[in-house]
Amino acid sequence: MKIAFSSTQPFERIAFNAANQDFGYTLEYYDWHLNESTVALLQNYPIVSCFVNDTLNAATLKALYQQGTRCIALRSAGYNHVDIEAAKTLGITVARVPAYSPYAVAEHTVGLILALNRQIHRAYARVREQNFSLHGLMGFDLHGKTVGIIGLGKIGIELAKIMQGFGCKVLGYDPAPSPEAKALNIDWVDLPTVYAQAHIISLNCPLTVETRHLINSEAIAAMRPKVMLINTSRGAVIDTKAVIEGLKSGKIGYLGLDVYEEEAALFFEDRSDKILQDDLFARLQTFPNVIITAHQAFFTEEAVHNIALITLENIHAFVCGKGQLYTV
Ligand code: NAI
Repeated sequence: MKIAFSSTQPFERIAFNAANQDFGYTLEYYDWHLNESTVALLQNYPIVSCFVNDTLNAATLKALYQQGTRCIALRSAGYNHVDIEAAKTLGITVARVPAYSPYAVAEHTVGLILALNRQIHRAYARVREQNFSLHGLMGFDLHGKTVGIIGLGKIGIELAKIMQGFGCKVLGYDPAPSPEAKALNIDWVDLPTVYAQAHIISLNCPLTVETRHLINSEAIAAMRPKVMLINTSRGAVIDTKAVIEGLKSGKIGYLGLDVYEEEAALFFEDRSDKILQDDLFARLQTFPNVIITAHQAFFTEEAVHNIALITLENIHAFVCGKGQLYTV
């Protein structure tokens, strides 16, 4: 059976080819994003595998269905880029990889926290220029600080444990915590308390109707002065314009992003010889207290291996009706 893969990167092809040794499917890789403009290129693929920057809206799904697709195997945990209701109505099965390495994302989150606090990005550039001045590089002890985690799912749980290891007090907000989350020794609070008390706020919730622009100007106004804000969830959980205002006023003291609202037009490609058209992204990059990584929090050997394996297991379960199929 042949399976089409949209938005593929070279590293994925290596991982999928290796994992496919046990399955023997015909894997056809495409580097372009799947959306309304490109969907016509995928004729007669019963199974299509997609990534986060593909746009699986109702129109794209309808076209896929008409062209013969019956299963979308997402290579991601998040599925905010898929119109799930439309897929259900059409009878297209949508599978995802619910967990491939919560450690990868939690550890990258901590990497952003440490780099921003101790200004590793600035220190690195300075030392390479033989500027050994410490001026402006003073950080703070993480020990004793309060970390607010919004979304205590698989990633938020691991982040809570790591931050407790630093000696931080952890505040958690989650409208539907799992039993594993409830077993954490953290303080469960409401959002206003997270905003009022946390020195560091990490967003680890999915992008939903409720969380879109959760971090807006009102939320920022309720935060501590010089708060550190970290977003490794989905870009649109924060209102970028409001965050830029927060940085300009100094209310936000540090910003770490692994995701960006308009990342589909930017991330996962080398655009170093192109003129940047996104003025908000350009403005974000002017702040010395902002670190942006291009959706790489998941990117560890273990995670990529697990994504390939679980995606192929999902496909196998769909095709054979046996084994675990992680549907959305
Ligand atoms: P999960 O599904 O295990 O946990 C999400 C948690 O968020 C759940 O406990 C849920 O109750 C909670 N939640 C739902 N609505 C909420 C709200 N309004 N406010 C606060 N919490 C809310 O998901 P997991 O694996 O922990 O991943 C979290 C998110 O991280 C994913 O949805 C995805 O968007 C993002 N992600 C980012 C990656 C990256 O490379 N940057 C990689 C993997 C995931």
